[in-house]
Amino acid sequence: MDLAGKHLVLGLTGGIACYKSAELTRMLTQAGATVQVAMTEAATQFITPVTMQALSGHPVYTSQWDARIDNNMPHIDLSRRADAIVIAPASTDFIAKLANGLCDDLLSTLVVARDCPLLVVPAMNRQMWQNPATQRNVAQLRADGITVLGPDAGPQACGEIGDGRMLEPAAVYEAIVAFFQPKKLAGQRVLITAGPTFEPIDPVRGITNRSSGKMGFALARAAAQAGARVHLIAGPVSLATPWGVSREDVQTAQQMYDAVMATIADTDIFIAVAAVADWRATQVSDHKLKKAAGQPAPPLDFVENPDILASVAALPSPPYCVGFAAESGELGVNGEAKRRRKNVPLLIGNLGPKTFGKDDNEVVLFDTIGSTPLPRADKQSLARTLVDEIAQRVPGSLFA
Ligand code: C5P
Repeated sequence: MDLAGKHLVLGLTGGIACYKSAELTRMLTQAGATVQVAMTEAATQFITPVTMQALSGHPVYTSQWDARIDNNMPHIDLSRRADAIVIAPASTDFIAKLANGLCDDLLSTLVVARDCPLLVVPAMNRQMWQNPATQRNVAQLRADGITVLGPDAGPQACGEIGDGRMLEPAAVYEAIVAFFQPKKLAGQRVLITAGPTFEPIDPVRGITNRSSGKMGFALARAAAQAGARVHLIAGPVSLATPWGVSREDVQTAQQMYDAVMATIADTDIFIAVAAVADWRATQVSDHKLKKAAGQPAPPLDFVENPDILASVAALPSPPYCVGFAAESGELGVNGEAKRRRKNVPLLIGNLGPKTFGKDDNEVVLFDTIGSTPLPRADKQSLARTLVDEIAQRVPGSLFA
């Protein structure tokens, strides 16, 4: 549960994007957050407090004169247990009020009276967004330490196209989760390979493996949440790109090698999670290999693929390198031997058949000091633990 134990105040202001906040509320509560909704009068024109109460599981507040709070001070009480206030959607008008400290309704008053961080998710027409007054106000919010998420670009409810759309609920959700993560990899440029590779034999067949890419994608998400700039080079997988991560898709080991080498000079930490095929067919047939009655199976010759991790580790000034090893047994012996052979400071060993395609994993860390087993955990939690472990070991890290 990404947000277990977190208390959020979700403020809605007037805008058609209020419908996105219904979905956002569901995502936040399902992730374990307590969500207290407060709405401006204008927001209630777009979505009802009944809907928001049903989704959040708590009474919705719209007025500073609401007598349901014991001391009759909802503008103070509602935010006091909050870990953050999120305004989504934030209208042009509400942003202008925030920038100037105005408070003439419940939501604006409780924001001015807050003692917790504030995240603002703008939603408006593109001309309203580009208006110099809006840009000035948004710059003021940032200068005041307020986090501004988005806006997105694209088609708008008014029929125009441009900047100003509210981020999709999933993106706001990811940004909120990331907001709460310690920034242990701030300023680090992280390159990750993930998934299997696919080595063609002919135009329709090839050799691949059972890696799903889940561990590599979870690490990319966790590293981005920890403040790193993450580039992900992925083999053929069917996974969504984690929020805030740049992604490049490749098929073969050679393409993965080329993509890694093209960006390695701008990398501080290289994490090789991909299950790269060790061999490729020497000759790729340009037509489908046909079977014929009475004929033997076609002979296949293989040539070794470049070892991406070992090649990076052998560079004159390599980034901090982390390898993975999917073994089928004797992890203790094979893991350390592989770490030495690849010449990397940290190798994460797991048992392939017990992890490929699964949502959880059990790993052992091998480094220059020795080996450390970690308890079985879901891949998202494990990825956070691994990011902590990596952050502690990166030379010059503040978290060492
Ligand atoms: O030798 P083995 O494939 O078991 O090594 C696993 C580690 O090496 C993983 O980190 C994997 O991503 C990396 N690797 C690589 N290029 C290869 C083979 C493996 O980067 N050709």
